[in-house]
Amino acid sequence: MNDLPADPTVQERRCPVDASLHGKLRTPDFAADPFGLLGELRDSGPVHRCEPPGAAPIWLITRHAEGAAALTDPRLVKDPTSVGLPAGWRPGEESSQLWSKDLASNDPPNHTRLRKLVARPFTKRRVESLRPGIEKAARELRETMMREETFDLVTDFAGGLTTATICDLLGIPAADRAIFQGWADTFFTVTVPGQADNDLFISITKYFARLIARKRDDPQDDLLSELIKDSSEDKLDGHELISMASSLLLTGHEPAVRLIGNVLFSLMRRPDLVRELREDATLIPATIREIIRFDSPALTSLVRFAAEDIEIGDVVIGRGDAVLVSLLAANRDPTKFERADEFLPSRDTSGHLGFGLGIHFCIGAQLAQVEAEVAVRELLPLLPELSLTVRENELPYHPGLQMYGVQSLPVRLRPV
Ligand code: HEM
Repeated sequence: MNDLPADPTVQERRCPVDASLHGKLRTPDFAADPFGLLGELRDSGPVHRCEPPGAAPIWLITRHAEGAAALTDPRLVKDPTSVGLPAGWRPGEESSQLWSKDLASNDPPNHTRLRKLVARPFTKRRVESLRPGIEKAARELRETMMREETFDLVTDFAGGLTTATICDLLGIPAADRAIFQGWADTFFTVTVPGQADNDLFISITKYFARLIARKRDDPQDDLLSELIKDSSEDKLDGHELISMASSLLLTGHEPAVRLIGNVLFSLMRRPDLVRELREDATLIPATIREIIRFDSPALTSLVRFAAEDIEIGDVVIGRGDAVLVSLLAANRDPTKFERADEFLPSRDTSGHLGFGLGIHFCIGAQLAQVEAEVAVRELLPLLPELSLTVRENELPYHPGLQMYGVQSLPVRLRPV
């Protein structure tokens, strides 16, 4: 199923396999500074083969043109079962399979149906209506942090703000937010794909089954209630509701935390930019867009599988092989962006792949940008007063290939 072209000399010429690549992509050095290695890979070719021990090969696309083409190629599919692979993150486990009824694991025509149903209530108007709540949460978090001697801009501020936002979107009662924060911490700190904690899946599934039952009797003005109230013929069934709610909760949390963390860290290192933004707050959205391009929180796309043998660049990707697009590498591709390795907040970022592309383009992109904008507005006056409590090179970074960004930004107010 994962066979490469039979003639090894052809394979060698077409794709210089670096057997150690998988290991190099997993080191703490790569997590803290992936740009050097990704740049080398991008310079040497558009597609690279990683060989995780004991698992099928993964192809990593590092150039913008091939990355954009792959993200919109219908031959690269999300549903592993359609190419004969097992379903779910933990094959065989019921809860994991249940979760595969979400947007990110489906292909047309089911994806088209699911996306339409979720996009209907997930409007720009709903996102804007969340803004006052996000502002209130940001203000309260800042006030709480200011009472402490030291605080963490990622775990305390970005984590708290993102939890409040996604819970507001879905209509998760305030009293239950601490439970969710615990899940998110467990889910994102201890897991790498394939090692997700089944007990956690079961807890989240049970929680949403109960919450959905409550909302059926007493719907409120929130996304989940809207999905439950939907009376169309092809509305989400009970399993799909649980799967969708769980996946929105988790996909809406981690990337948004990384985004806010990367934005705040980026500003802490650029006091001149902070001064400019304080003088002219209308520059904030463009600055955030450039940070999404330059320091993309989504290091790679979600995984896709080749539904048939596909030639990309100079290699043939075999049916069933996994493909990841390195969004971070594509966003720094000099053939797409002039002076791609320079941070230029006034540049035209259109065409960046930070939120993906095509039918799986991030459904939460607008919400994530509102969250980041509110975070910047709230903390801008404070940023010049903050100093890190550790050296920059001691900051932990998100491990693995999926996300890029600082996991913790411990700060204190500078002594006056
Ligand atoms: C409010 C926060 C967010 C929510 C609710 C959210 C939700 C989602 C969902 C449901 C998808 C799957 C869409 C589909 O398959 O049709 C998705 C895709 C994606 N999201 Fe987000 N997201 C959020 C924030 C972010 C942030 C901050 C980033 C990074 C800057 C991001 C990057 C992506 C990317 C790259 C994809 C496409 C993955 C692919 O095509 O492989 N998301 N998002």
